Amino acid sequence: MSAQFHNPVATYFGAGSLSQVVALTEGQSVALVTFPEARDLGLIDTLQALLGDRLIHLVENVQPNPDVAQLRATYERFWQQASGCEVVLAVGGGSAIDTAKALIVGTDSGQFDELLALLATGKTFTPPRHKRLIAVPTTAGTGSEVTPWATIWDSQQQKKYSLHLQCTWPTAAIIDPDLMLTLPAAVTVSTGLDALSHALESIWNVNANPISDTLAVSAIEDIFDCLPLLQQNLASRELRSRMALAALKAGLAFSNTKTALAHSISYELTLRHGLSHGIACSFTLPYVLGLAWGKEAGRDQTLQRVFGPDLGQAQAQLRAFLHRLDVKTEFADYGVTEGEARQMVFSAMQGARGKNFIGSQAA
Ligand SMILES: [Fe+2]
Repeated sequence: MSAQFHNPVATYFGAGSLSQVVALTEGQSVALVTFPEARDLGLIDTLQALLGDRLIHLVENVQPNPDVAQLRATYERFWQQASGCEVVLAVGGGSAIDTAKALIVGTDSGQFDELLALLATGKTFTPPRHKRLIAVPTTAGTGSEVTPWATIWDSQQQKKYSLHLQCTWPTAAIIDPDLMLTLPAAVTVSTGLDALSHALESIWNVNANPISDTLAVSAIEDIFDCLPLLQQNLASRELRSRMALAALKAGLAFSNTKTALAHSISYELTLRHGLSHGIACSFTLPYVLGLAWGKEAGRDQTLQRVFGPDLGQAQAQLRAFLHRLDVKTEFADYGVTEGEARQMVFSAMQGARGKNFIGSQAA
């Protein structure tokens, strides 16, 4: 057995760990990227108190699924007004962290379209300037705080860009479960299922290894135990903490494997059907489990550590778990016909993430 694992993010975990932001930004100026409700939740006041006059720029209008239509103005304002700042602090869900990942990559011109043109080539590049990113998730699911990837959407053109550069690894992640206490039930569930998807996708993955497997299996067990309880008891600090740790483990697992078929399918469901990321990448998990099972003995062994030896039972367990959380598990439930679904899965297999799926070669 051999394995290699690399994650360069300095990770701080625990209730109250938000205060680490003071030491991590000492002597440096900071731009804050956060979500619209952060002000009413008192989060901006808290960060202003912690950072004082180090905080020189504020982006507080981040929308779900960051879209080029909105990012363009935010990006160009940032590079005009705050090009001197040293740190971008992202506080929020995956959309805030993904927005921050786009902002920190500076083009020569400071124009956003120059960045899009580079991303459209699909090749990696070294930007002429970039900022340091610190990520503080306020949801337990995205994993974006411990990965270098961001998804940028172009809903008008019905496409997406994948951002992934050496500089888009956060230098630090602060996971403070107390920041998740006010998350509503629907977001708690959908982001928690995103984490479940990350863990499973790292197992049925051509890049899986014993280290990512260990993290993924542990994450799945925690999520199975914890998420239904948390849905019924949103104010529990203990459950928030357990779920945050599970999501972190899932994030670390897929930081080394990338995602696979369920995520590849999800992109079209988000673009065409407007499904939230967490639901789009998780309702197909029982179906994708069926495609993964029996493809590789080693992968089966890891899946069977979670689900036991019987595929039918494994799929039933996963379906029952999703149904208990009020998540429907069939394409038809989301207005996708059988023919559309078949086409969607076929093209998802050809996508970059689909090719990470262990069953993609046999399809
Ligand atoms: Fe995801």
